[in-house]
Amino acid sequence: MELDKIKRILVVGAGTMGHAIAQVYATAGFEVDLVDLNQEVLDNALTKIKSNLSLLVEYKHVISGETSNILSRIHPSTDLKVAAQNCDLVLEAVSEDRDVKRDVFSQLDEFCSEDIILASNTSELNIFNVAKVKNPKRLVIHHWFHPPYIIPLVEIVAGRKTSSEVIDISFKLLEKIGKKPLILKKFTNAFVVNKIQQAINSAVFALLIKGIASPEEIDMAIKNTLGVRLPFAGVAQNLDFVGLDVVYDIIKNMGMDLVFLRDKVNNGQLGAKTSIGFYDYQGRTEEEILTKRDKLYLQMLDFLKQKNAFEPI
Ligand SMILES: NC(=O)c1ccc[n+]([C@@H]2O[C@H](COP(=O)([O-])OP(=O)(O)OC[C@H]3O[C@@H](n4cnc5c(N)ncnc54)[C@H](O)[C@@H]3O)[C@@H](O)[C@H]2O)c1
Repeated sequence: MELDKIKRILVVGAGTMGHAIAQVYATAGFEVDLVDLNQEVLDNALTKIKSNLSLLVEYKHVISGETSNILSRIHPSTDLKVAAQNCDLVLEAVSEDRDVKRDVFSQLDEFCSEDIILASNTSELNIFNVAKVKNPKRLVIHHWFHPPYIIPLVEIVAGRKTSSEVIDISFKLLEKIGKKPLILKKFTNAFVVNKIQQAINSAVFALLIKGIASPEEIDMAIKNTLGVRLPFAGVAQNLDFVGLDVVYDIIKNMGMDLVFLRDKVNNGQLGAKTSIGFYDYQGRTEEEILTKRDKLYLQMLDFLKQKNAFEPI
């Protein structure tokens, strides 16, 4: 198993995610077999890929003369066996259904050569319990985000038996095609981003059910706060700007205690105000840190206003 030997990717499932992931690999120069159950889905997938590519050309993310070369590298097929026998890596993007995925992985296990990586794009299933493969060292999750030709992150999630070599090659491959891979330290349901998204969704539903704010009001509130800060401060660094002592007081008022946070506060690691919190600001003063932050926030605010971002899409 070597990164440089990966030339041909098999994407199984040509739906919302599969067609677009196939497009990303083909854009990066890989030959891609795109397999689904019937020709109609595949035709639809190719129509969408052409439309995606023309948008990417318009926004200069793809060179205009490249479209036909990219399309020529995508090989739609309904024959999983043939495609599996010829590929160097599989990305499974079939429906989020245990039985469907189990069946696809058992076919892949039978048809693919034994050492190639079998990656699943599952959003939340513990694929390591679902898929039965002879060599579980090669089974891994590559969790892409929609739309995959725009959103940079891909979460790499290993099972207990996934080899470190598979994780390493996964990381390098995704980096090579221009993605931002994140290796999770262990399996957890919904991984990182969807776990945070789920917490947000739960809060939104609670606000709606209790009649506290309408959907439009919630979005207006979020766009006018998190929307401005998030691109620069993320969600963890923002706590450094609040002050970890303040955050800890809030947690205590909620009747909770977090040992790691208490330790930080007791050690004087309060965030920007002490030049160290979750992040290490390398001795920069609070004023230096916050001035840099505020310049970025101001630029973001101007940009968002210019784009009418505070209005619904
Ligand atoms: N939609 C998203 O935003 C999103 C984001 C990240 C991850 N995912 C995950 O990606 C996977 C695919 O999701 P999607 O949104 O593309 O679903 P989708 O329903 O749009 O596409 C699934 C495709 O799989 C095909 N399929 C089903 N059984 C098959 C088989 N045996 N062989 C070949 N093809 C088969 C279906 O015909 C369909 O075209 C799921 O695991 C999902 O959880 C989805």
